[in-house]
Amino acid sequence: MVEGRRVRTLAGVDADLQELFDAALAGQGHAHAPYSRFPVGAALRAASGRVYAGCNVENASFPEGTCAEAAAIAAMVAAGDREIVAVLTVAGGDDLATCCGGCRQRIREFATAATRIHAAGPDGVRATFTMDELLPLSFGPSNLAD
Ligand code: THU
Repeated sequence: MVEGRRVRTLAGVDADLQELFDAALAGQGHAHAPYSRFPVGAALRAASGRVYAGCNVENASFPEGTCAEAAAIAAMVAAGDREIVAVLTVAGGDDLATCCGGCRQRIREFATAATRIHAAGPDGVRATFTMDELLPLSFGPSNLAD
């Protein structure tokens, strides 16, 4: 784990991270989270360089709600990209909010060993992990290959 970096402090430095943070923050602003009141934004960079964002979308039938990461991944897949270089989520609260277990597996489907997962608060990135740190000994597409 890498301790947090503020992404707003040094203009021009960590421009890629800044772009992800801004996209995730914009996504969070569109979250539909009337039940948990915990809006989450996610943004990911695909191998093409394109950035895709999403937000959590809750439902009055609670189990039908979806996470921000799932929305960003769906947008990426729908646009034709298949490889995630980096993911950044932004959520509120004082505690470090990392991707839930289900989203770790969702990211894993399109991750590589080099994929970075950043957990941010409104103030910026609080911690950075590798895919393997968040989901060690994971099950993935290669397990189903012939
Ligand atoms: N949530 C996400 O969007 N991503 C996560 O990785 C953790 C949780 C959402 C789901 C739900 O709408 C709200 O946060 C509270 O759990």
